[in-house]
Amino acid sequence: MRLNLALVTLVSAVAAQDLGVPLSWRKFSNSRPKSERITIAQNAINQMTPQLNANTGEFNGIGFWQSGNAWSVLANQDWLAGTTTNKNLVVNNLNLVFRRWAHYDQFQFNDDAMWWAQACLYAYRAYQDTNLLNHAIDVWTHVTGYVITAAQASAHKNPNKSFSLQSTCEGATMAGGVFWRPTTDDQAVNSVTTGLYITLSAFLAEYTKNGTYTSAAILSANWIKAHNINSNNLVLDTVNAADCSRSPANWLFTYNSGKYIEGLSVLGAVTGDSQWNSLMINILNSAVKTNAWQGSDGIITEGASPSSNNDGAGFKAIFIRGIHEAWTRNPNNSALRTLIHSYGDVQYNALLDLAATGNTYSSAWHGPPQGFTSWGQLAALDVMTCNIDTN
Ligand SMILES: *[C@@H]1O[C@H](CO)[C@@H](O)[C@H](O)[C@H]1NC(C)=O
Ligand SMILES: *[C@@H]1O[C@H](CO)[C@@H](O)[C@H](O)[C@H]1NC(C)=O
Ligand SMILES: *[C@@H]1O[C@H](CO)[C@@H](O)[C@H](O)[C@H]1NC(C)=O
Repeated sequence: MRLNLALVTLVSAVAAQDLGVPLSWRKFSNSRPKSERITIAQNAINQMTPQLNANTGEFNGIGFWQSGNAWSVLANQDWLAGTTTNKNLVVNNLNLVFRRWAHYDQFQFNDDAMWWAQACLYAYRAYQDTNLLNHAIDVWTHVTGYVITAAQASAHKNPNKSFSLQSTCEGATMAGGVFWRPTTDDQAVNSVTTGLYITLSAFLAEYTKNGTYTSAAILSANWIKAHNINSNNLVLDTVNAADCSRSPANWLFTYNSGKYIEGLSVLGAVTGDSQWNSLMINILNSAVKTNAWQGSDGIITEGASPSSNNDGAGFKAIFIRGIHEAWTRNPNNSALRTLIHSYGDVQYNALLDLAATGNTYSSAWHGPPQGFTSWGQLAALDVMTCNIDTN
């Protein structure tokens, strides 16, 4: 009995980790040298920065959360290129926006606040500026009031919410779930807010060595694991904490998997617990191959929106950044690295071959090329910057 079970487990674990690169993918390698890749990425950033509104620290043509993500990629560019080209802009504007909006929360969304806190952590990684680390801790402390603790789940009550919580949904505790919004009546707990909280917690654990953050990351990682992964290993969107109802099964967005992949990658490194990396690899392998957001050529179709801003254009940037973190944290897993490298090159080559006008890029990665849009540029920046590494 025991032996049979062990064999079944082994077989499914091996089957789940076939990390082969689909040969149908379009152009999954390129030979541009690193210096050229750094230039391509910084040139793309240089097309974005004229859109900065110096009074608000936000960019014209994209939303508040997307502006936070623009700062993320500028910081990561310096980290990966070993430069300080973007440092003053990044640091000054992250400080400006922190002064303007308590906890970076302009519109009462916990995920908005954490996109900006995440930018602060990337900037801390690039520049070791302690003020930015403290901004991230401020947001973490604020959002922690909206994380369902084990005691709150048992008591059916979060002190910041006006309704009665379900202690379990489909048999699993709601502990670790993070409310999307701080407003007292909003009942949604979702993967992106929880995934952001996992990632912030894991980075803070790494930078401060404070076990409070590790425990928080584990509790929330277990919430997504128990509630919000479908049978194809893709991360789902929302669970309602008042009645356990769910977002439609076809609400599949790259960033839900991407942010969880990122958080698990850091959590795996911080804890040394291999279950997080195994789970991460299964999700990543599915996410780069699913037909939910790409065809057999591998090019992401989500958020292709030539004429108006679309949140989806921001989603796919988060996904690319998440799988880059997996690449960074797994230097010895050559099959995983080859898969991430190949997928990254598919997107990179599509942008350069099919969607480019000079150094500006369409949000439609199959093209055609078009004039500059802030959201198209934002979506492309993470591809360009991550490719400095993963190519
Ligand atoms: C609500 O959340 C905040 C964090 O944003 C926390 O400081 C506060 O204690 C919570 N409120 C209550 C009544 O627990
Ligand atoms: C660890 O982090 C928590 C949460 O921010 C904080 O309350 C606590 O004081 C920290 N502990 C130490 C030793 O710094
Ligand atoms: C990768 O392998 C090297 C050599 O065996 C080892 O020293 C290093 O710790 C490994 N890195 C990780 C992240 O596992």
